[in-house]
Amino acid sequence: MGTLDGKRVLLVIGGGIAAYKSLDLIRRLRERGASVRCVLTKGAQEFVTPLAAASLSGQRAHTDLFDRADEADIGHIRLARDADAVVVAPATANTLARMAGGHAPDLASTVLLATTLPILIAPAMNVRMWLHPATQRNLALLKGDGIAVVGPNVGRMAEAETGPGRMAEPDEIADAVEALLAGRPDGGTLLAGRHLLVTSGPTHEPIDPVRYLANRSSGKQGHAIAAAAAAAGARVTLVSGPVTLPDPLGVTVVRIETAREMLAAVEAALPADIAVFAAAVADWRPANLGDEKIKKGPDGPPPLGLVENPDILATIARRREGRPPLVVGFAAETTEVIAHARAKIARKGCDLIVANDVSTATGVMGGDRNSVHLIGRDGSLETWPVLPKDEVARRLVVRLAALTTTP
Ligand code: C5P
Repeated sequence: MGTLDGKRVLLVIGGGIAAYKSLDLIRRLRERGASVRCVLTKGAQEFVTPLAAASLSGQRAHTDLFDRADEADIGHIRLARDADAVVVAPATANTLARMAGGHAPDLASTVLLATTLPILIAPAMNVRMWLHPATQRNLALLKGDGIAVVGPNVGRMAEAETGPGRMAEPDEIADAVEALLAGRPDGGTLLAGRHLLVTSGPTHEPIDPVRYLANRSSGKQGHAIAAAAAAAGARVTLVSGPVTLPDPLGVTVVRIETAREMLAAVEAALPADIAVFAAAVADWRPANLGDEKIKKGPDGPPPLGLVENPDILATIARRREGRPPLVVGFAAETTEVIAHARAKIARKGCDLIVANDVSTATGVMGGDRNSVHLIGRDGSLETWPVLPKDEVARRLVVRLAALTTTP
């Protein structure tokens, strides 16, 4: 069974030398079970032919906005609708600019403007074009619109220059298509127009310049929530402590180390429509942090005095101004999970608590599965079965969408 069985991909091929790799992408997507229909820009046709795209995809390739046969046959609105995802590869600087500006002078850009499907772009261009502020501005706009991005990679390019600009490899793009489709609870529109703020991972609290206090949080659940929300069309800011996970597609990631840095990053990311505090923030940090590495000496181990860290969830949930309308906390407990969570919701002032049992036997901490209870401000309790963290994230996103009104 292919990982993309039954999925329909509309592949927009842009005008760059990387277009030759898109022919390979067609093959890779089909190997994974997807059907692929291609749209070629005028520029693309300088590098690859519609015949090559049609032969590899097994379907007619589309090129013209005002192609009589095409309009009678399928038309740009149906092209924009009859698929599960749209992939733009290579996405040139010009294509990015058109998408960001909402321009639609040709078939490819018209389809991209008309579609409500999840979109993945694989940028490819000269390094200076990629680094140009205009391109980076356009990219930020597109990410803000919930468009997923894969690559570009760093490497040698056609003009014998080196730097970021090489299109991601076909298999990487196919992986990104899988990730994109896996996280769509509702065709990517469930949280459209919302800004969701997520904290994830542990915090590291320095003892001295080389040592720190930390905890076992992997960040998997928080990152999965950020990915699911982005896939559901939200603009997502993920404030993450040190983790080894890749950045979720289409998410703005702010990396921090300490609890105090996390609070500052969260405050800087406001306003948000929904805030989900999934990070395992260190409750305490070592006091009297010296600038030098503490040396082993004849006096034995140094005393480790601790001071309390700010409670980020409570600080945000109790804000008078700019409190996100929906504030969600997590409760990682090892005993009396529900009772503790009920007490926490009142203490912290949040609207919803996702409680989980992290006692060692459950394998939740660092594992791929989670068993959660949802506790509401009104005392309501809902217990979900043991689910993969990705699935918990998707269900939670559906719930968050239901709990917030349309903007
Ligand atoms: O009090 P406790 O750590 O059990 O509460 C857990 C919830 O509070 C989580 O949502 C966590 O992200 C948040 N929290 C926080 N800042 C802290 C401690 C916990 O935001 N300093």
